[in-house]
This record gives sequence, structure tokens and C-alpha cells, in this order.
Amino acid sequence: MASVLRLGELYQQSAGPRSLVDTIIKGDCVAALEALPDQSVDAIFADPPYNLQLGGALTRPDQSLVDAVDDEWDQFASFEAYDAFTRAWLLACRRVLKPNGTIWVIGSYHNIFRVGATLQNLNFWILNDVIWRKTNPMPNFKGRRFQNAHETLIWASRDPKAKSYTFNYDAMKASNDDVQMRSDWLFPICNGGERLKDADGRKVHPTQKPEALLARIIMASTKPGDVVLDPFFGSGTTGAVARRLGRHFVGIEREDSYIAAAAARIAAVEPLGKAELTVMTGKKAEPRVAFNVLVESGLVRPGQVLTDAKRRWSAIVRADGTLAAGGEAGSIHRLGARVQGLDACNGWTFWHVEEQGSLRPIDDLRARIRKEMAGLE
Ligand SMILES: C[S@@+](CC[C@H](N)C(=O)[O-])C[C@H]1O[C@@H](n2cnc3c(N)ncnc32)[C@H](O)[C@@H]1O
Repeated sequence: MASVLRLGELYQQSAGPRSLVDTIIKGDCVAALEALPDQSVDAIFADPPYNLQLGGALTRPDQSLVDAVDDEWDQFASFEAYDAFTRAWLLACRRVLKPNGTIWVIGSYHNIFRVGATLQNLNFWILNDVIWRKTNPMPNFKGRRFQNAHETLIWASRDPKAKSYTFNYDAMKASNDDVQMRSDWLFPICNGGERLKDADGRKVHPTQKPEALLARIIMASTKPGDVVLDPFFGSGTTGAVARRLGRHFVGIEREDSYIAAAAARIAAVEPLGKAELTVMTGKKAEPRVAFNVLVESGLVRPGQVLTDAKRRWSAIVRADGTLAAGGEAGSIHRLGARVQGLDACNGWTFWHVEEQGSLRPIDDLRARIRKEMAGLE
């Protein structure tokens, strides 16, 4: 569910053992971030004020008023003031992010370049800029520039050298008809039944983001059970999607009305089950199993003869997990290459064992061990 904390309570709690996850913190995001423990979240999604700088009311050609974002929270006195604010919250985010954590920041041409420069100045490492192309963007009413049909997301790791950040590459590819997921994403803006409305049918929040966008982000860059922080929680889109996808959230928001709407929204979410949330992984994510493990576990015996698929070459398994053939010895890969006169060989697919009258690659035995390791057998 979602509990709500005032900033003062947060200061008391963060010194104590109680967990802050699945909580909306009411207050200024910089102060709230500063009260959170170091390296306590796995990922951050931030949808900050864009500083849209709207000069007066925006009208359509028929003189009707456009429902534009003219809220006080989106207004800054100058670019310098906006940059100082951006630097303060990004710095605070960096401290609470785990060393292998990543941050997503969404913005438009009004602010995203300033945010990108600040990210780099603070030593974040940009991994991608993703274009969210809108299927149903607002027209350009004055006809004096191109229709603004996209927003930009920057995805960055906390540290330039971070190698082990989460990216569910295989799941993204499999969900994209087995084609690598690209950095241009097509989604409609938040509309229809998903858009939160008050009793008078007015939008609860002017910039509610589509759940599909958050789902793509969370599925791509977090694991079930991870904690996703959103310092500009608004209507709680991040919390609702995180809860549905079996992740935890921490939200920070200043406005009471948005907090109330977000808490009610999250309470209505039914989390998916463990089976639906298992993340698909590819070969690279599988645990390393050395040939020696097959010998130690008795799947291959010392003295056993291995051959290639056509029985042209053979080698004897030694107790130390190496192979010997024709006066030479070495690993399954090196000896496989030597007998064929090649520079390299994948010993797992080259060498075979005889089982019940037929040959099978030793890679099948390795797969058996991996299944046991995963508790599947
Ligand atoms: C662009 S909106 C986020 C909308 C959100 N992603 C959603 O889907 O509903 C930015 C939000 O940040 C809040 N906000 C602005 N400045 C803040 C600050 N300094 N501390 C905390 N919240 C802030 C605003 O009240 C607003 O709800």
C-alpha cells in the first residue's frame, strides 16, 4: 500500500530502523532526499518541473483556452535558479542511489539539455537518451514551429565505471519480437480511464505520465523487489506501476492534493504474482559452471572418453578437470582447438559423451547443473 510521512517524521524515522519503502514523503524533495540513508535505492525516476516559461494564456485558433501547465511549482525566476535547483536535487539523488543504481530523468526541450549537462557535471554517466514519441501530441496552435511531438528521457548510471547496473536486455528484446529494443519509444499521452479526474471531471494532475512509459522503464532497469525512488511523485504513476510490477517505491511530493490522489491510486493496485514477474535472462546472466564441476559432481568420470559429434577425435577426462589426447593436455577448449588444428574452440559444444547409445554435447550436462543451481530440479 502507501503510507504518508511528513518531513519531520522522516527525520526521526531515518535515524531508526523502520523501513521507508512504499511511503510517500510530504515535503521538499531536496530536504527529504537529504534525510534518506546513503545508497538506499536501486533506481530513480524523476519527472521534475520542466520550467516551461509560458508567457501568458495559450489559446486555440477558436480562442478556447489550452489547459497548459502554468502551476506555481513549474515556475523559476531564471535559468540560473533552475540550474541551481536541478543541481541540488540531482546531487541529493546521487547520494541515495546504490553504486550500481541508475537514474531516469524525463524532460522536454525547455529543460532536458540543462538537466543533461548537470548530470554529466555531477559525474553521472549517460547510458541512453530515449525519445518518447507521442502518438497523440498536442498541435502547434500558432503554426510558427514544428509540432512538439516527443519528450526526452535521459538514463544514466550513478558512476562512469558502473558495469553491473541492471539492464534486462534479453527481456526487452524478447518482448520486442526478438529484435533489440531501440531508444525511440512510441506511446500515447496519458488519457482515457487511466487519467485521474476529480469529482468535477477536472484532471487531478496536469502532467500525469502514462503507466506504459513507467512500465517500460521499470521492466528494463530494475528487478522484482528493487526500490524505485521518485522525487517528484505527483499523481503517483511510479508508485502504482512499481507496486503492480512487484517493486517497492519511495515517493516525494509537496502538494497535499497530489499525495492524497497518489495514495488512493496505489492502494487500488493489485500486484502481479511471482510467476508473471520472473525476468527473462539470456546466456550471459547464467551462473558460470566450469568443466571441473561436471567431474566433481560425477556427471563425467575421470578416465571417461569424450569425442566430437562425428567421433573423429577423442580425449580422456583427467581427475583434475583437464582433457588429454595424443600426448597433449589442456582445458576442454584448448584441447578441442589443438586436435582440430584451430586457434579456438568452444569445448562445451565440441566434446560429447555417450549416453544410452547416443552422443550428446557436454553443454547438456552443464545445463543440468545450472537447473539444479536454480532449484528447478
Ligand atoms: C512533472 S510533475 C510529476 C508528475 C508525475 N510524474 C505523475 O505522473 O503524476 C512534478 C511534480 O513535482 C512536484 N514538485 C515540484 N517541485 C518540488 C519539490 N521541490 N519538492 C517536491 N515536489 C516537488 C510538483 O508538485 C509536481 O506534482
